[in-house]
Amino acid sequence: MLKLMRLTTVSLAGFLLMGVLTTLLVSDTKGVLLAQASKTTQSDKIKCPRCGFMNPAKNPDGTVNTDCDKCGYSIVTFSADKGPSKIDPKVLATYAPEMKATYNLFRNKCSKCHTLARPLNTDLPPTKWEEYIKRMMKKPGSGIKPDEAKRIWQFIVYDTVKRKSNFFNKLPEKEKEIANKVVSKVEGNAGSK
Ligand code: HEC
Repeated sequence: MLKLMRLTTVSLAGFLLMGVLTTLLVSDTKGVLLAQASKTTQSDKIKCPRCGFMNPAKNPDGTVNTDCDKCGYSIVTFSADKGPSKIDPKVLATYAPEMKATYNLFRNKCSKCHTLARPLNTDLPPTKWEEYIKRMMKKPGSGIKPDEAKRIWQFIVYDTVKRKSNFFNKLPEKEKEIANKVVSKVEGNAGSK
């Protein structure tokens, strides 16, 4: 009698387990399908967060569309966007006066098409920043003049040395040299240019 009861319990448990597994399997398949469906609709069009224009997700050449076709806003999100969108005022207070002024220019010009958090939380060597800033300047409606781009580059490089010392210390010597030159020039203790 006891043996029979145990047998029934075991088979009952097995039966229940099978039911649970089947349910899991079915709902999982459904989940995947749903995810795929929403992915397809999402990949057709991307809504611009600024002007609401529905952009094709792909460019005619098949690459991912990153800039709103109507207003130029960035329609993709970067992980850097989620970080702080300003420099800690206590840190900024230690910056050279010229750099405090350029910070305002940088804030104005580089938060037009995405949050300022994007450049603030992106770590790049000076030569790469030059490339990136030139790319930003050339975007339609950037409103960035070449001399402003140069000043912003100086600021970002200075800020890399001051605020991102861990990243800076690991840079190749050539990149460090470029950055140190910028700091010396800004702080006015450069022997030469
Ligand atoms: C006219 C709009 C516009 C302006 C102004 C602008 N950006 Fe951008 N930025 C974009 C768009 C669109 C993207 C995403 C596509 C790309 O990377 O080109 C982007 C991407 C970036 C990225 C991430 C690139 C990557 O691949 O990691 C950085 C960093 C960046 N911008 C920095 C800046 C800085 C610094 C400035 C100011 C000098 C600036 N942006 C001004 C439109 C702009």
